[in-house]
Amino acid sequence: MVQLKTDAEIEAMRPACQVAADTLVMIEEYIKPGITTDKINQIVHDYTIERGGIPAPLNYHGFPKSVCTSVNHVVCHGIPDNKKLKDGDIINVDVTTIVDGWHGDTSKTFYVGKPKVRAQKLVEVAREALQLGIDVVKPGATLGDIGHVIQTFVEKNRFTVVREYCGHGIGRVFHEQPQIVHFGKPGEGLEIKEGMVFTIEPMVNAGKHPVKVLNDDWTVVTRDRSLSAQFEHTMVVRKDGAEILTLPSQGA
Ligand code: MF3
Ligand code: CO
Ligand code: CO
Repeated sequence: MVQLKTDAEIEAMRPACQVAADTLVMIEEYIKPGITTDKINQIVHDYTIERGGIPAPLNYHGFPKSVCTSVNHVVCHGIPDNKKLKDGDIINVDVTTIVDGWHGDTSKTFYVGKPKVRAQKLVEVAREALQLGIDVVKPGATLGDIGHVIQTFVEKNRFTVVREYCGHGIGRVFHEQPQIVHFGKPGEGLEIKEGMVFTIEPMVNAGKHPVKVLNDDWTVVTRDRSLSAQFEHTMVVRKDGAEILTLPSQGA
């Protein structure tokens, strides 16, 4: 069952989406060689509380930290720890914030210091893949249309799309229907309707698409240890297309 949200519900989601988006802006200046992902976790946690939010990842199905930090070949769900970031790393910071019981979910891949040419290409393709997916969202299009445009663009650039993890409906619940897979065929899958609220969050690998989960039961890595990059927004379907809810506020 896919819930359509009323305008009042969408308004109620705005603060959570806003805090999540602003957190990514806030954290950028800290993403430098030498910082640990634990420190990033602490800064995100404190900022979230200060803004009146709750970090959704903390204790979510037992996740031990307040944010996911996925470095280099980590695809998603990286657990912050005491390792330091190095010049040339890439890191996805995935922030999900709860405000007044509503969730906002957004992520971005950052460069640590100066990026390597291939890493930069991968990150730019992942960023563009999300935008192309967002651009096809409108009532009457299908979820397959979203997946198709993302997969086609990524593979044209000779990268690959992760199959096992996907975007999702979001609201009072962190992960709800529908699932938004980032591959597919035009016209297939569920029809997109006004009032749907969901994320698009393609994970793009530099090598092959298969992934595995480490023994900590969370950290997802590329099987071939190739780099992986990801971007994510939460959006609502309007009459004429997607309205992104996780855009940072002016001056944030
Ligand atoms: N934020 C992730 C997503 O985009 C989910 C993280 S679940 C966690 O759906 F438990 F690892 F935080
Ligand atoms: Co998400
Ligand atoms: Co997320």
